[in-house]
This record gives sequence, C-alpha cells and structure tokens, in this order.
Amino acid sequence: MNKINIKLLKLLIENKGDYVSGEKISQELGVSRTTIWKHINKLRELGYQIDSLTRKGYSLIKSPQGMVAENIYLGLDTEVFGKEIRVYPSLDSTNTKAKELAADDYPTGTVIITEEQQQGKGRRGRGWYSPPGTGLWFSVLLRPDIAPNKAPFLTIISALAVSEGIKKVASSLVPVIKWPNDVLLAGKKVCGILSELNADLGMIKYAVTGIGINVNQTSFPAEIADIATSLKIEAGNEIDRTLLVQEIIVSFERYYLEMEAGHYDKLLGLWKKQLNIIGEQVIIYANEGITYEGNVLDVSSQGELIIKDKNGEINKFWAGDVSL
Ligand code: BTN
Repeated sequence: MNKINIKLLKLLIENKGDYVSGEKISQELGVSRTTIWKHINKLRELGYQIDSLTRKGYSLIKSPQGMVAENIYLGLDTEVFGKEIRVYPSLDSTNTKAKELAADDYPTGTVIITEEQQQGKGRRGRGWYSPPGTGLWFSVLLRPDIAPNKAPFLTIISALAVSEGIKKVASSLVPVIKWPNDVLLAGKKVCGILSELNADLGMIKYAVTGIGINVNQTSFPAEIADIATSLKIEAGNEIDRTLLVQEIIVSFERYYLEMEAGHYDKLLGLWKKQLNIIGEQVIIYANEGITYEGNVLDVSSQGELIIKDKNGEINKFWAGDVSL
C-alpha cells in the first residue's frame, strides 16, 4: 500500500467540497509539488475524480464505485489485519491467490479481494457463483499461533465476524449461522466460508479463510435461486461493499486476537448463540457419502456437532452438509 497515496487521499476526503492547496499538501506530506502531482494522477488512475485549479489546489469530486484498496484501507482501524490489501478486477479464486501470496511471505492479515471469480471454490469440491461487481469475494491470509486442532476456530470466528459486519451495515437484518459456517438470512444462504490450511509437523504454516457474500445481487441462477439470497434482497437497499468489508475485517481481527489469546470458550459461546441447530432433528451428509440422522445435542469444544441417533448412539461430526 502506498503511504503517500493514503495520506493524500485522507487529506482530500477530510476537505471534500473544498480545494486543498498544493502548498498545504506539500507541507503536511513532506513531499514536493511534482510528487503530489504524480500521486494525484495515480489516484485518478484508480478511479478517483479529482479537480485541480491553478492557485486553489485539488478537490476530491467523487470516489470510485468499485472496490479500491486505498479506500478500504482508509477506514480501517486495525492493528494487524488489512495492512496489505490487494484488489483484483478478476481472479480464478481469492483463496488460490492468497496461497500464492503466502509463499511470497505476505504477512498475517493480508486481504485479497476481487470483483469476480472465474473459478470460485466452495466447500466439498463445489464451485462458488461469483459474478462481477455485486458480491464480496475475499480471502484473508493468516499465520495463526494456534495448534492445528484449533483450526476450526478460524471458521467459527469468521462466521461471527461476517454476522457482525452484516448487522453493522444493515441493522434490520438478523443473520443466523448454519453449522458449520454458512450465514443465512430468512433461511437462505447469503455467505459461505472456505478455510484452507497448510500445516506441517503439528504446526500451522498458514491458513486462508475465504469469504463469499452475496451483497447486491437481485437474482440468482436457477440452480441456486431457491436457496440463495443477497443483502440487497433482504434489506431492500444497495449495500456499500467497502463499508461491509471494513466492518468484517475489524471484527475478524478482534476475534482472531481473542482466539490467539486462548479465549476459545468465549468464542464458542458467541457462535453457539447464533447457531440454528441445537435441539433440532437433522440429516448430516458427511464425507464419503455417509448419511446420518439424529438429534443435535450440542456442539463440542472443537466446534463438532454432537448428534444422537434413534438408537441412542452418539456421534461427532466436524464437517458435512446438514439439512434441518
Ligand atoms: C461454501 O461452499 O459455502 C464456501 C464458499 C466460499 C466462497 C468464497 S468466495 C472467496 C473465497 N474464494 C473462493 O474461491 N472461495 C471463497
């Protein structure tokens, strides 16, 4: 992230509607007029509409419509997350890109966002529908200092963060978490989460948590039309994706730091409160085609579903699709 761009943009935003003189910018940023001019042009390339008048200076007229790293970064009050933000017009998958950046030593909390995914990945080898410009498709690269058996907490805390972020940008909405990690609105899926782990010798090298949120779609392909919804459909108005991703990153970091501090019970408690499954009769489609039917007694301290079948046998599941 270019620090001069950020500072310059901050100054222009603070003075929106007015002109800021070249002299003032030069003093505040400690750079020459030529450098300012170069960075003004860089911001224009990023889609910022900036007016310039001789003797008056520069004025921000309009910020870009799409997702722009500088814009997201500016509103972020975080310690670790989002210090590196990469926004791409199109990617195969933000999870795949995050793994590439992991190999290049990008730091924990690096955020990768794209306007569209050509091959968005869902859980259990499925795809994820990621059309351009309307959804929020992003991944966070993490290097968590936790044991691999605590990795399900990455998904638990990201679901909590998404739910919190949604409530911040659309207060009328009531998100529910569907075990293990879908977020639903009015019984339909609005968000899916795919965490991928790279672990070796009992240590997590890195993890990638990929989050897909249907934000401003107004319709879906026939295959998912009955089960998917968007924030816009449920809230009745367009949602600002920049604001949403900022809120989620802020919450995600807060829960992440709690997780690293070992506050697992607290996080589990918060997650359980939003789960729609405890006490319900369910069918679970686990790996290798195994189907299991029973009553959900609870979730374990690792986030597994504890199910009792009609013969009284108790089983635990940590992954699978559930139908209520
Ligand atoms: C699911 O099947 O519910 C999980 C869907 C996860 C989709 C997100 S979109 C951003 C990130 N990149 C991907 O390829 N997948 C995840």
